[in-house]
Amino acid sequence: VSASAGTAELAGAAVRLAQAAEYMPVLAAIRRDFASGAPLAGQRVALCGHVTAEGAVQVQTLQELGARVVWCASSTSTTDSGIVELARRFGVIVHGSRGMSEDDLRRGAGAALQAWPDGPTLVLDEGAVLISALHGDLAGVPAPVLAAEKTPDGLAVLGRLGPLRFPVIKSDESFGKAAVDNPHGTAQSLVETIMAVSRRLLAGKVFVVAGYGRVGSGVAAKARGLGARVIVTEIDPVRALLAVLDGFEVRPMGEAAVVGDFFCTVTGASAVIRREHFLVMKSGAVVANGGHRPWEIDLADLYALSARRESAPDGVAILDFPDGRHLQLIGDGHIANLTAGRGNVSEVMDVTFASQVLALQVALHRAADLPPGLHPLPPACDEYVAAALAAALGIDLSAGHDDG
Ligand SMILES: NC(=O)c1ccc[n+]([C@@H]2O[C@H](COP(=O)([O-])OP(=O)(O)OC[C@H]3O[C@@H](n4cnc5c(N)ncnc54)[C@H](O)[C@@H]3O)[C@@H](O)[C@H]2O)c1
Repeated sequence: VSASAGTAELAGAAVRLAQAAEYMPVLAAIRRDFASGAPLAGQRVALCGHVTAEGAVQVQTLQELGARVVWCASSTSTTDSGIVELARRFGVIVHGSRGMSEDDLRRGAGAALQAWPDGPTLVLDEGAVLISALHGDLAGVPAPVLAAEKTPDGLAVLGRLGPLRFPVIKSDESFGKAAVDNPHGTAQSLVETIMAVSRRLLAGKVFVVAGYGRVGSGVAAKARGLGARVIVTEIDPVRALLAVLDGFEVRPMGEAAVVGDFFCTVTGASAVIRREHFLVMKSGAVVANGGHRPWEIDLADLYALSARRESAPDGVAILDFPDGRHLQLIGDGHIANLTAGRGNVSEVMDVTFASQVLALQVALHRAADLPPGLHPLPPACDEYVAAALAAALGIDLSAGHDDG
């Protein structure tokens, strides 16, 4: 990269950071309300997350609250290289590059955890990458005082890990994730990406959503709003019933695969769409994964059955089958809205990142009383986020009495 290209990249990243910060009012409120008291002074934070402009606003907030931060990428495919350089300029070590391997990802996490001789005091995790390492290869690193995990997949991993060495706050189970990020922000950006990248009309088509959780219910509602006929696949009877009560058809993937024009997986589980489904799908069907990890669509099966066309447009792989059919795979089966689209909007990441920062800040002063293991997010965090977001939307929460 030439010096001038580097400067242009940095300038572009600075613009993206400023734009993101403008639309992240809850983190701004946290900085306004708490930075002067430096509640995280002296804390060493190891942060695992997507290296994006919005992530950088979270990092800067942690710094303004007094913490030092080391940041490692949570995904091989989403790092913004300009933001990496910019973050380094404001004193943050970043381990991550776009297109890195899974091994590089693990090495970056290891480097983040070993950045300080005494280890991090606080861990903000995504997909339990850091917390798992602290219970595996890096069990020798001193235990942090507190950690927070912000994905359901990560919490599932922690549930299987056995006894934990330190308290972990389930920041995934926040009001912001349940009510704002997943059903609205993520769903909006997934549907938008699928439409834009495939260049196909949704109205009248059969749109199959795998998983009717927080994201899937939002994807289903938004696809229906655009005129698609939506089929849901679910393994949990409660969620399946909710989908039926919301007016959606619920069918097994084996049946949905035959009729679907669009497929979007948002389960967190692996091989939700696999060999037997690829074999019966319609030619031209669009397949996208919205889950955090690239295993919901069985790529080994798909690549074994088909050949990748050379001239595929950006963000799409066209896969030709020997029987003459082809499929459109978005973002190579990685998290589609971040890999092939423009990602979640800043306002949404604001809510999720704010819950994570507050989880540490609120729980820190009583961390000594928290036994190792998983803990709910303190209710004060949800209340703060909801009030700050309502204020940003111009909603008046006062009782509204007029004494005059
Ligand atoms: N794309 C993004 O920007 C983004 C944002 C937030 C979350 N996520 C990811 O999306 C995924 C879903 O998140 P969520 O918050 O909706 O989780 P969730 O736990 O609320 O929902 C997942 C649903 O999938 C169902 N499910 C599990 N295995 C299934 C299978 N084999 N077939 C059909 N259904 C199955 C579960 O019963 C559950 O109802 C996770 O991987 C999460 O990390 C992505």
